[in-house]
Amino acid sequence: MKIFSAPDYTAMSRKAANLISAQVILKPDSVLGLATGSTPLGVYSQLIDWYEKGDVDFTKVRSVNLDEYCGLAPEHEQSYHYYMKENFFKHINIQMVNTHVPDGLAKDVTAEGHRYDKLIDSLGGIDLQLLGIGNTGHIGFNEPSESFIKETHRVTLKQKTIDANARFFASKEEVPRYAVTMGIGAIMGAKKVLLVANGAGKAEILYESLFGPITPEVPASILQVHPDVTVVGDEAAMAVIREKCPSAID
Ligand code: PGA
Repeated sequence: MKIFSAPDYTAMSRKAANLISAQVILKPDSVLGLATGSTPLGVYSQLIDWYEKGDVDFTKVRSVNLDEYCGLAPEHEQSYHYYMKENFFKHINIQMVNTHVPDGLAKDVTAEGHRYDKLIDSLGGIDLQLLGIGNTGHIGFNEPSESFIKETHRVTLKQKTIDANARFFASKEEVPRYAVTMGIGAIMGAKKVLLVANGAGKAEILYESLFGPITPEVPASILQVHPDVTVVGDEAAMAVIREKCPSAID
């Protein structure tokens, strides 16, 4: 595992965007696993900049997103379909037909999970998976639980996650209680994983995930056994790692 500490959010975003653009330049038809939330916004905006300058071309890229809220239509402003379109896809030359987000409106979420996992397989798996980390230690919406769930599945969001995401909705009551998320299997099957984290609120959970016991109670801890993980955090997110394991930082 490589752990990089960036001086601030902009530098964190630039470093992560660099790794993604290198992936696309080296393999133009890469399958990118993409993430939502506040953290990756700077990564997308840096990639858009480089696309506009002609440095990176997304024509052949395929993408699979981690998750979607159950019950939100793609046009809903808080859906992850909408987020991806507004914050990334509409600004670059990716073909929309090559972009995939789980269907939050699926009546049968188990069937949707099978469809999504098969889709990922049919694309040849994920070349590079971008991840944020929730303050519960979730990756995608894989919340703490008694076991790691491999398949794409429906998850009940933890109160902590609902509270954290309420900032995007008019009220806490409007935050969906359920989501459909890629499971740990597809994430761990990615050839490369790139995790981004910023802010002091992530410092403890980041340390616990990367250096604590591997347990489904801290879903991101499974990344300790992935062969190719890069973590990029800003100073604040890196604070506990810097204090307890300074030599782990590259
Ligand atoms: P955030 O969310 O980037 O908005 O903090 C991260 C996550 O929940 O994965």
